[in-house]
Amino acid sequence: MQDIIPSIAPDLSEAREHFPALSQEHLGKPVVFFDNPGGTQVAKQVIDATLEYYLFANANTHGAFATSQRTDLIIHEARLAMADMLNCAPGEIVFGANMTSLTFALSRALGRTFQPGDEIVTTTLDHDANIAPWRAIARDRGLVIRQVDIDPATCTLHMEDLRSKITARTKLVAVGYASNAVGTINDVATIVQLAHAAGALCWIDAVQYAPHGPIDVQSLDCDFLVCSAYKFFGPHLGILYGKQSLLDALAPYKVRPSSDETPDKFETGTQAHELLAGLLGAVDYLAQVGNRYAEALPEVGAAYSGRRRTLKIAMGAILAYERSLSAYLLPSLATLPGVTIYGLTRPQDVRLRVPTVALTMRGHTPRQLAEALAAAGINAWDGNYYAIELMDRLGLEAQGGALRLGLAHYNTTEEIDRCVAVLREVGRA
Ligand SMILES: Cc1ncc(COP(=O)(O)O)c(C=O)c1O
Repeated sequence: MQDIIPSIAPDLSEAREHFPALSQEHLGKPVVFFDNPGGTQVAKQVIDATLEYYLFANANTHGAFATSQRTDLIIHEARLAMADMLNCAPGEIVFGANMTSLTFALSRALGRTFQPGDEIVTTTLDHDANIAPWRAIARDRGLVIRQVDIDPATCTLHMEDLRSKITARTKLVAVGYASNAVGTINDVATIVQLAHAAGALCWIDAVQYAPHGPIDVQSLDCDFLVCSAYKFFGPHLGILYGKQSLLDALAPYKVRPSSDETPDKFETGTQAHELLAGLLGAVDYLAQVGNRYAEALPEVGAAYSGRRRTLKIAMGAILAYERSLSAYLLPSLATLPGVTIYGLTRPQDVRLRVPTVALTMRGHTPRQLAEALAAAGINAWDGNYYAIELMDRLGLEAQGGALRLGLAHYNTTEEIDRCVAVLREVGRA
């Protein structure tokens, strides 16, 4: 997919009009949202769809009356929408509170099928939500965790180490699609192949890739993939893809009213119906982006039809535009005195990363940098953002982690200029 992304970035500046929150001001200037890896702003369609749910559909499921039936329809449509986004069957989509809760639930169900001494592979590049649940089930079931190292110079996964950590006893490889701290995109297709060659399953945390590029679970052939709608312009909601046969075979912890059918058996309790309505709004927004670029980027959607095609085109346009943001941001930051950027920085490497950049500046803590940016109306995170193993490996954990600038497709080069100017000023102090 990535190879057919055009090198000329489409102009996505009109995307900003669809995000009401972007009109907030601080001291007379628009607020800059570079805090996107912690959660993106929502498209207007998300707000409208959520409001509409409360006005016309607010009810529990499977009733004989109209609001309940509208709720049933919204859940069904949300499943179809995510199936189109990820390229799978609607029955392979499971909704949950967030990625972390889904990973805890599924890791427990999977753990029931593993034997003491079986192995799970995790990585140093991952968010704790794709490490801690596996460690917890490993403790409960006597499993062995094998953690893959990174190359600290580039913050890329050490692929030789990964190969050596996958053994005949490996049952599952848990890996992130893109790093929430340093933006590295992992070669997940190859990692799925390596896992399968050893007879293991592959679990992909796509939380930080989903807002930045197209995902196709069939072409990846991954067994499970998780993401969160609040990272791709939608509501606070988690989404899991699992291969039908695997979901069917699992026995999750559940209560009696839910059926033994997939995906019902995984969706314990009452779902956040209003957020599923909001999710539909987010997918509508992305489909609108796709429709706008359908003629300009026909190759990106060539292998798909209908909304699947439109969504692939949308995410292809976003990927191309964001590469241009990375290509602008990284050299601008590199001009700052005393700055260290962690991860891939070479111009030719923007294809291998999303526009999420971690940096430190000599003489200033990450918190001080974030505070200086906040005073100028620029939102950015400091700390470890739960990329704890990575921060430890880079020796940053004890020093307050790093400043993270995380861009999305509604950000602009003008905003980058404003941010770099503030950091330059801090550097002078
Ligand atoms: C890469 C990654 N994985 C998992 C999570 C956890 O997601 P959730 O908040 O949906 O549990 C995050 C949250 O920031 C993340 O960045």
